[in-house]
Amino acid sequence: TASQMDSRSPDMTLQISDPREEQKRLAAIEAASMVRDGMVVGLGSGTTSAYMIDELGRRWAEGLRFSAIPTSERSAEQARSHGIKLVTFASHPQIDLDIDGADEVEMGTLNLIKGRGGALFREKIVAAASRRFVVVVDESKLVRRLGHHMPVPVEVTTFGWELTATRLRDLGARPTLRLDQHGTPFCTDGGNLILDCNFGEIADSVALARKIRAIVGVIESGLFIGRTSEVIVAGQDGLKHLMA
Ligand code: 5RP
Repeated sequence: TASQMDSRSPDMTLQISDPREEQKRLAAIEAASMVRDGMVVGLGSGTTSAYMIDELGRRWAEGLRFSAIPTSERSAEQARSHGIKLVTFASHPQIDLDIDGADEVEMGTLNLIKGRGGALFREKIVAAASRRFVVVVDESKLVRRLGHHMPVPVEVTTFGWELTATRLRDLGARPTLRLDQHGTPFCTDGGNLILDCNFGEIADSVALARKIRAIVGVIESGLFIGRTSEVIVAGQDGLKHLMA
């Protein structure tokens, strides 16, 4: 599955000796503290979200009770390992609080690039169904303009992906088909491909997100526009909250 192919699978014992990992963990714990009894909670994906899910698991063991909708098979598996109750949109169409990481946060707008872990499509569905979307990052991910360090991941259908790549090139991107650690095409939880699209710094991410979505063969892009409620930033001087 896609989750098994995520080469970033953390060795927690190694990571915790890294001060940046410790900051990320503290920020994730702060986000997890927003979860209250009876809530419907979106569980993000990635290494920061993994700390948040572990913390929710710890609180579940203490008696906190909530319902969770995971954004990837990997996060589902981690939540299940803690005994956390997983539900679906069929019974729970409205999420109270979604907590997730991001790859870049634009400081002026709190718009995001997400999807380095390949879970962007489910992450966007869950974020779109949430009353509050709280993003947890370390300060290295704050940028003046999206695209500063990161390409925009775009999930595309397998059929015709080469044509879809050409249409993305027409928009000014340099697309690269994402490979897994075996050098074969990375496959998302939904069975699709990812094109990592380098646009350089993006002047108008709202317009770009719209143009990418209009291409036939595109499922979703990792541009998250106007969705963020709050960002918890872990830095050397502690935690900062940026509010939308
Ligand atoms: C996965 C994501 C992640 O939230 C994003 O890549 C951040 O991951 P990490 O917390 O490991 O830095 O969008 O699709």
